[in-house]
Amino acid sequence: MKRKCLSPRSSVAAICICFILIMIFALSGNSRQGEQLLGSPTHRVSGSRHVSQLTLNSRQGEQLLGSPTHRVSGSRHVSQLTLNSSQHPFTLFQSRWSCKNERAIKTRNLDCKSRLPDVIGIGAKKCGTGALEFFLRGHPALHIAAVVEAHQWDWHPTRSIEKYRQLMPRTSQYQLTMEKTPAYFVADDIPAAIARDVSRDIKLLLILRDPVKRAISDYTHILDVFPKMARKQRYGTRRRGRVPKYPQANISYVIEDTFETSVLNEDGTVNADNAIIFTGLYSRHLRNWFKIFPRKQILILDGDLFSKNPLPQLQATESFLGLPKYFDADKIYFDKAKGFFCLAMPYKLCMERTKGRKHPKVKRDTLRKLYTFYEPYDKELEILTGRNFSWMNLNNDEVTG
Ligand SMILES: *[C@@H]1O[C@H](CO)[C@@H](O)[C@H](O)[C@H]1NC(C)=O
Ligand SMILES: *[C@@H]1O[C@H](CO)[C@@H](O)[C@H](O)[C@H]1NC(C)=O
Ligand SMILES: *[C@@H]1O[C@H](CO)[C@@H](O)[C@H](O)[C@H]1NC(C)=O
Repeated sequence: MKRKCLSPRSSVAAICICFILIMIFALSGNSRQGEQLLGSPTHRVSGSRHVSQLTLNSRQGEQLLGSPTHRVSGSRHVSQLTLNSSQHPFTLFQSRWSCKNERAIKTRNLDCKSRLPDVIGIGAKKCGTGALEFFLRGHPALHIAAVVEAHQWDWHPTRSIEKYRQLMPRTSQYQLTMEKTPAYFVADDIPAAIARDVSRDIKLLLILRDPVKRAISDYTHILDVFPKMARKQRYGTRRRGRVPKYPQANISYVIEDTFETSVLNEDGTVNADNAIIFTGLYSRHLRNWFKIFPRKQILILDGDLFSKNPLPQLQATESFLGLPKYFDADKIYFDKAKGFFCLAMPYKLCMERTKGRKHPKVKRDTLRKLYTFYEPYDKELEILTGRNFSWMNLNNDEVTG
């Protein structure tokens, strides 16, 4: 191919222009510092979610925060700074302790690198794991993997742990690393695999909600993605049928013409081998985790309460993780137009709701059947955890009415 060469004169001019541009860029970078209180947010779309990437100003942090005191969490140092809520702690903390700040990297021993997670969100699917993750991303001392779900031990059991580590974001020694894959919760061998491959001291976040509502929400979701799932698993492009979900336990997603025919057998009993039902057997799954991990390492949140008001459980989560206190009434707000809570800080940001899928109308009789089916599992969950969840002990009319 014939290429047009630059004449000596024009290449000198090009070099000059480049140099001038670099100077302008460098100068404007400097003058921006101190001008703004908060950095300007830029968004990057990761999957369907917006991940905030703040360009932050480091000067703030210099004056206002003293030296952090450290606590060893596993082998990591996690800052125990009590943030001054009359300031903008997000900005302060990020700028000073985050690997996104070039200056901090140069001047402090942040030890920035990709680390295996300190925290894993293990599920459960369709219980609010996305909302929990959305709000936790607001916490300056927690860094959640940008990869939507790593699926290390279900989809990629042969992928090396080194590769898994490389999926994690670069964090400083003052931050925690988190990953969430809700599918982990239901598989019997995953708790032991996590203890073996990551750490026995890892902290686990689990969010649960009314299992019947979860099933309906799951069905609606699966209905949408079923043709794609079926195609991927070489089942053609069928809209109905069976797609293996968890083959070791013979669990599949079964989608028939209606919700009823999908979750009930022909004799009218509940089909617990349908992943749509199986996922809601919380106590069954939780027993497996409690066999491997001490109970104090698993925080169980109530997804039905979380969607009504996330704040108390966000505070419980940061305290469980040993993070500096960050979440308070200033950090979130209720968006009246949208009808749900959003992040107020470091700038207003609401979760993007997936296009409003219409839930099927489920017969009262089917709902009763499902609540009765789940009752013993809920009872066992109450015994296992020593607490009641918000959906328990409601009478059926309250729930189905
Ligand atoms: C928080 O910051 C404000 C303003 O700088 C200061 O007046 C106040 O004393 C600080 N509070 C604490 C608890 O450090
Ligand atoms: C798996 O489940 C399907 C449908 O419930 C059933 O027909 C089949 O016999 C099961 N296979 C095994 C090995 O249990
Ligand atoms: C759960 O609620 C029921 C009914 O109010 C009560 O009898 C039971 O003691 C509660 N269980 C726990 C663990 O608090």
